[in-house]
Amino acid sequence: MKCRRCRDMGKTKKAVIFLPHHNLSLCRDCFILWYEKQIGRTIKKMRMFTRKDKIMVAVSGGKDSLALWFALERLGYATDGMYINLGIEERNYSRISYEKAKKLSERIKRPLHVVDIKDIFEGKGISELNKLTRQPPCSICGLIKRYYTNKVALDKGYDCVATGHNLDDEVATLLLNTLSWDVDSLSRQAPVLPEKQGFARRVKPLVGMTEKENLLYCLLMEIDYAKEECPLSTGVSTIFYKQVFNKIEQKSPGTKLRFYFNFQKNIYPLLSPIKIPHLSPCSLCGQPTTTSDKICALCRFKEKVKNLTKN
Ligand code: AMP
Ligand code: FES
Ligand code: ZN
Repeated sequence: MKCRRCRDMGKTKKAVIFLPHHNLSLCRDCFILWYEKQIGRTIKKMRMFTRKDKIMVAVSGGKDSLALWFALERLGYATDGMYINLGIEERNYSRISYEKAKKLSERIKRPLHVVDIKDIFEGKGISELNKLTRQPPCSICGLIKRYYTNKVALDKGYDCVATGHNLDDEVATLLLNTLSWDVDSLSRQAPVLPEKQGFARRVKPLVGMTEKENLLYCLLMEIDYAKEECPLSTGVSTIFYKQVFNKIEQKSPGTKLRFYFNFQKNIYPLLSPIKIPHLSPCSLCGQPTTTSDKICALCRFKEKVKNLTKN
């Protein structure tokens, strides 16, 4: 298989990847160029941010968010990293993830802000919090990530938070929400969530890129990333939906891109005006909340942990 881009320029080079959904085979150099260009295009088309904005990339230490941080840097955007140490000791998950994020931060010479949840929850990590509260690990983890990515971005004056959600993540969630017609969640599933009182803008520049493309970019750019999936999230339903989607994609290449981008174009505009919740500052921490008792979900969770620890 030969690189199509090189062929169009009258050269012959061996392709390293064939992308059936774009009907494109590319060599190493052309893939890197293409990959970064695609991300740049998504950022501009969706009006995510400009080169004047200060961007905070939430990095997990995995391939997607590290590929994003590196690519944004190469595209000339001002990006700093932010890592939340979730205190997951199983298979040294959090320690290894942190090391990978730190390594990239040193390589590109950009700061990495770190929040350690053991400092917040009196030495407890996600597993201990799960045992204590009996809430599923992923729901605790999601709450903490949403809260602290927003808080750090606002406290440190960033214009937006970029996350490494990829096309596979997005279509799996979209399918899951569609199958239960969860209009509330669907009306929030956008690649750009604009800033509003107390919330920083949130963007997902990798929505057009597959897991496989992000992985190849990491390999070609020699980005060292944490290979293990989170040991606490095995059996999560999105894993099953990703497998289902990969089967559909094999039969009909391009389905993921069509499903996601046609939803954004045709359905999302009909849903988004449905609900604009009233927000007020949390009486304990000042971050925005929709609850009537004026205490945000994170502060309520903190209180719960405190009470359960006392008993
Ligand atoms: P996940 O929720 O694990 O699928 O991750 C989705 C995105 O959230 C990642 O691509 C990162 O941008 C961000 N993220 C996940 N885990 C962390 C973490 N521990 N610290 C900071 N950002 C994270
Ligand atoms: Fe959140 Fe595993 S990364 S529970
Ligand atoms: Zn609060």
